[in-house]
Amino acid sequence: MTVFSKTPILGALLAQVVAMPLVAIATALVSARVDHTLLILGAVLLQGLLAALICRLLGLAVWWLVIAFLFPLALSGALLAGNLPAWPFGLAFLVLALVFSNTARGRVPLYLTNNETAGVLKDLMTERKATRFLDLGCGLGGVVRALDGDGRQARGIENAPAVFLAARLLSRLSRSGDIRRGDLWRADVSKEDVVYAFLSPEPMAALWQKLSTEMKPGSLFISNSFPVPDREPDETWTLSDGRKTVLYLYGMGRKAEA
Ligand SMILES: C[S@@+](CC[C@H](N)C(=O)[O-])C[C@H]1O[C@@H](n2cnc3c(N)ncnc32)[C@H](O)[C@@H]1O
Repeated sequence: MTVFSKTPILGALLAQVVAMPLVAIATALVSARVDHTLLILGAVLLQGLLAALICRLLGLAVWWLVIAFLFPLALSGALLAGNLPAWPFGLAFLVLALVFSNTARGRVPLYLTNNETAGVLKDLMTERKATRFLDLGCGLGGVVRALDGDGRQARGIENAPAVFLAARLLSRLSRSGDIRRGDLWRADVSKEDVVYAFLSPEPMAALWQKLSTEMKPGSLFISNSFPVPDREPDETWTLSDGRKTVLYLYGMGRKAEA
């Protein structure tokens, strides 16, 4: 795994920096023969194309290629728009950073478990007489609040600052669930009956390494949508909700299963 596959934003930035002198040379070569406006437009397009190509060579995912292409267009569009106030951009940056600051590193974006899935998890806990539940990367904490109560203790761990604050506030207001700020990789999972995660394909292999060695025998790991690579789930449930959610269930049979 390269530094760019781990932190693709670095690759995207590098692509723009490397493309810049190449575009400068290309535009200098033709500047005497081409109309000024056309030259600028061509330079912006070339910058985007080259940056996207470099992202491709660095092995970044396809959406980074799209971002790399659109970035110079968006930047020059904003510059051409003239005297725009700066504060909306600053505010938007701050909000995005507080919500998605962990996404560039962990490659787990924010999307939420729906009510139907939370209902299925609740029934499963009732059937298994399970009392302790942990949502790793709990987002706004909806699953935690849905499962907490009636003898169940549900906890959630979240590391995106704004998302954590919203989840904590909602849980305080509804007096249900225990939301903590923290890194899921450091979470103590040893006492949980059910550990739940709705993350992305990226962390699943490493997550299995952690859970299979740290969860107690007889407990259950449930992953929404993303199976553990090279590991057959004990059960796979396809739900009848709108998005046909698939839950992968892994029983923790032995102390160390890795
Ligand atoms: C796809 S969302 C799922 C939210 C919630 N579990 C649900 O199902 O509704 C994944 C969440 O994991 C959080 N996350 C990603 N990496 C994390 C980490 N290392 N530690 C804690 N939370 C993390 C993200 O900020 C995001 O809110």
